[in-house]
Amino acid sequence: MVWPKRKLYIRTFGCQMNVADSELMAQILGEQYDLTARAEDADLFLINTCAIRRKSEEKVKSLLGSLKPLKRARPQLILGVGGCVAQQEGERLLAFAPHLNLVFGAKGIYRLPELVDRAARGERVVDVAMERDLPDLPHRTWSPGTFQTMVTIMRGCDNFCSFCVVPYVRGRETSREPGAIVDEVAAFAAAGGLEVTLLGQNVNSYGRGLPEPMTFPQLLRRLDALPGLRRLRFATSHPRDLSPELVNAFGELGSLCEHLHLPVQSGANRILQRMNRGYTREHYLEKVAALKGACPGIALSTDLIVGFPGETEADFLQTLDLMREAGFDQAFSFKYSPRPQTRAATFPDQVPEDVKAERLARLQALQDELTRKAHARLVGREQEVLVEGRSKRSPQEWCGRLRTNQVVNFIGPRELLGSLARVAITEAHPHSLKGRWVEGSSTCNRAAERPGTSPREVSCSER
Ligand code: SAH
Ligand code: SF4
Ligand code: F3S
Repeated sequence: MVWPKRKLYIRTFGCQMNVADSELMAQILGEQYDLTARAEDADLFLINTCAIRRKSEEKVKSLLGSLKPLKRARPQLILGVGGCVAQQEGERLLAFAPHLNLVFGAKGIYRLPELVDRAARGERVVDVAMERDLPDLPHRTWSPGTFQTMVTIMRGCDNFCSFCVVPYVRGRETSREPGAIVDEVAAFAAAGGLEVTLLGQNVNSYGRGLPEPMTFPQLLRRLDALPGLRRLRFATSHPRDLSPELVNAFGELGSLCEHLHLPVQSGANRILQRMNRGYTREHYLEKVAALKGACPGIALSTDLIVGFPGETEADFLQTLDLMREAGFDQAFSFKYSPRPQTRAATFPDQVPEDVKAERLARLQALQDELTRKAHARLVGREQEVLVEGRSKRSPQEWCGRLRTNQVVNFIGPRELLGSLARVAITEAHPHSLKGRWVEGSSTCNRAAERPGTSPREVSCSER
């Protein structure tokens, strides 16, 4: 007799790398557990956490608190916390949440079956060891109809930006073997996959320390040559390590999408230096100009921090000025949040919260204006859209992305899911575009090639 598998529910916070890690957890536990979308059915409830700002950490703690009734109702439920807060807090989380069974850090993922077994036998388990050598990620199998995926190509970070907790919670930078990455992406493309996003905290330094060193652009070239793969993206790039070789790849590789996320953090040299970023505003703007030269029409997005310790009004104005000069299509902006173990948390000249809030509002108003302009430039043009699913706000519409990463909503026939469609852009909105499907234009309809796949009711995020 075959016993039904137990049910696994995963709640994920944080960056794309965490989303990819949650997929890995589900895969590693796949022999014992099936994923469920209903938390109340779970036999194993994992929270994959983020520690980047204090708010991210608070969200995890409040979710943990709110799970007490579920645990009371289902005493056999195993509750585990993984990811960056788990790595940072370790044992302390067990004291904070007496109903918690398991805490595992960045590398504990690989030992999950054993850790979960121990927790099931009643042990309160903590595994936050940070050893360096780990097996490569297991090869994945792709479920039918999967046309987009993320592939982690490196882990950890050695940059130690003075504000950032990542090097402490993710450990030292290690690159995966290129052969394993190419095989994984080739298998995805052979199974009908169209779009891959390569992930790492600093993909531009990919390959350092490998037995046979390989640069990131060399890896991109190998992936670009794979048959079937139509869109290649990556995140995140550190501006200091953005080489001319990578800049040129944008003009040359057919599958490499014309979009780059290049976090600048600040436009003031004094602040960039205190952040330990390793570039100046002039270097950054030179790289932006080179990118636009190599790939006219490239869309740039960025991350910005306001209220870093010691940031004056004049420094802040330099950031606004750089935003205008670079002409970002999109920006993710944050109030500086002091993090444990980081150098900037000890700087004496912390900026008051009200000043941070006021600067953030001004910065976001400027970015809204820049985004509106970037969107307006697209109106009237016909573009390629990868149709990702139904629009969240109006389910009768499809939602997809341009190669330049903007979100487009449009009406079209049912079979469009997972296809590359041509869409004429008709309206610009603050966070998305509206378009008109160009009839008969869809190609590579991967989802439709597989009978029995139904449209995901979407998750086209407009983050
Ligand atoms: N590896 C990426 C960034 C990862 S964290 C890079 O080097 O750019 C994502 C973003 O969170 C960062 O770009 C930064 O803008 C923001 N961030 C990181 N630490 C922060 C902190 N202590 N306070 C506020 N924002 C922070
Ligand atoms: Fe953090 Fe800097 Fe590493 Fe990015 S490069 S993860 S900001 S330390
Ligand atoms: Fe957060 Fe960890 Fe990613 S701190 S941003 S989940 S690497």
